[in-house]
Amino acid sequence: MQSHEVRKRFLDFFVERGHKLYPSSSLVPHNDPTVLLTTAGMQQFITYFTGQERPPTPRGTSVQKCFRTVDLEEVGDSTHLTFFEMLGNFSFGDYFKKEAIEWAWEFLTEELKLPPERLWITIFEGNEDAPEDLEAKEHWMRCGVPEERIFGLPRSENWWGPPGDTGPCGPCSEVYYDYGEDLSRGDPQADPKYGPGGDEGDPRFNEIWNLVFNQYEQHKDGTLTPLARPGIDTGMGFERTVAVVQNVRSVYESDLYAPIFERIRQTSGATMGSSEESDRTLYILADHARAMAFLIADGVRPGNQRREYVLRRIIRRATLQAYGRLGIGAEGVADLAEVVVDHMGDVYEELKEAREDIRHVVVAEAARFIEIYDSGMGLLEAEIQRLPGGHFPGDVAFMLHDTYGFPVEVTEEVLAERGISLDEAGFEEAMRLQRERARGALQGHERLVAAFRDREIKSRFVGYEREQVETTVLAVEEAPGSEAGEELHVVLAENPFYATGGGQVADEGWISSEHGQLEVFDVVPAGDYQIIRARRQRGDIEAGDAVTASINRVRRQQIEANHTATHILHWALRAVLGKDVVQACSRSPRTSPFATTRPPWRRLGTSGR
Ligand code: ALA
Repeated sequence: MQSHEVRKRFLDFFVERGHKLYPSSSLVPHNDPTVLLTTAGMQQFITYFTGQERPPTPRGTSVQKCFRTVDLEEVGDSTHLTFFEMLGNFSFGDYFKKEAIEWAWEFLTEELKLPPERLWITIFEGNEDAPEDLEAKEHWMRCGVPEERIFGLPRSENWWGPPGDTGPCGPCSEVYYDYGEDLSRGDPQADPKYGPGGDEGDPRFNEIWNLVFNQYEQHKDGTLTPLARPGIDTGMGFERTVAVVQNVRSVYESDLYAPIFERIRQTSGATMGSSEESDRTLYILADHARAMAFLIADGVRPGNQRREYVLRRIIRRATLQAYGRLGIGAEGVADLAEVVVDHMGDVYEELKEAREDIRHVVVAEAARFIEIYDSGMGLLEAEIQRLPGGHFPGDVAFMLHDTYGFPVEVTEEVLAERGISLDEAGFEEAMRLQRERARGALQGHERLVAAFRDREIKSRFVGYEREQVETTVLAVEEAPGSEAGEELHVVLAENPFYATGGGQVADEGWISSEHGQLEVFDVVPAGDYQIIRARRQRGDIEAGDAVTASINRVRRQQIEANHTATHILHWALRAVLGKDVVQACSRSPRTSPFATTRPPWRRLGTSGR
């Protein structure tokens, strides 16, 4: 049975039993800003379950696009996915356990013709809050499941919800497919850890369907009270079910992924089964090609935050495999996403509508990553050449990662291939120091401002009109820790020095009086006044002194020119690379000790972190 047939039969089955057919909702949840991406079929119906809204009909069914990020790093083995489809039937206060279980059994054994003896069941075993789900057990046994194939599991396994801290929740019951005793690690009857849902139950037992019996409401203090109108929420893993129906052990061996693998074969010659490592590459590409196509079709664009960042990671991870391992370029990665459009566009129209966008976004992001990859590889090679021994310094790996956005995983892989080990402790240490520097810079600013905090001082910034003023010193402090008081912090009544801000560095210049002269090297904004940081050149300056304050004019003009150029460059970058290019600052870290510890160009999306 082909995958599209499984999808159709499921929906037909439940529509025939009075369920309204709901289209999949977007991967970007419309009703819950706290949720990153849609992870379950019930999500679009939450308000029906909580009773906040009345459902148009008491029964619903859907095939829902889902995305789970928890397993992102695991993708590459034969089971984990980020994007998947969930088949579901729902009762909003209508039918309950009996029908849900009977229909599940009928669908699996009669529609999909799965051998009943291959199906194993888990139920909630009970705890101090809620009893063992004997009702579910009884219904399964009436369907013909022998008691020894029904396993009671704890709340951690067989309880679902509430989606947040409070709301509808309840015990659940799962259906597992038994791939056969030859995969068994032990006897499930002797020890349930070898059974379905048990720690050692893999890979023999494959969970295909979760039936959730929403029958309690969880309150803030964690207590449960029975729901007035219990409901049903089920989720059947589409890819896993298709694999079971097609009698293959991995989702990737089903017809769902075949067109993607075929395209990879045509482009690079790579096929499944040649090595574990190359299978990993193929699995990542197959999963991520679907993930990127669907995310982009639902309006997500690569970026550095939340779901935008998820998409960026997906495209970059795929590109790393495609380009780094198979020599497939940005266009080739986009081709894989387009295969998804070709093969799933009839079920999900939005893919077809977004065909151009998908291509454009994937090519741009993948190409950008390939540039990072190439330059990172060049730097890595150069560093390896300079290396004295078989040990790669952690701080260099960190610099590649932090400054150039070159993923440390790639550094590790390249080094491993050459038999060179990475100084991981050194890498961690460099990371820790980086964090400390960031924290230290913040504290430095706080200390500086604190010295003036409780004084009634106010300075007037005159730097737009004047480059030199005659004015008075309002306050002077010796910089903490400055040796022999050579660094002073000064506040002037009228201040011509531009303070660091708006992305522009501070002015430099001089403050002089009859008794002394200071050289200004930085100016820090502090609310109503600016703190001028200066070095003593000769004599002394005190509060109340009449002084002449002059900025370094030549330097100011250069800063202005650079500042304007930065705006022009930013505009151009946005025009070429897209609107997610964000300017973080344009200061040189040398001139200000408070400059961001992240060099500005990291924000151009090169770091991937
Ligand atoms: N909402 C349930 C799940 O995701 C069905 O497993």
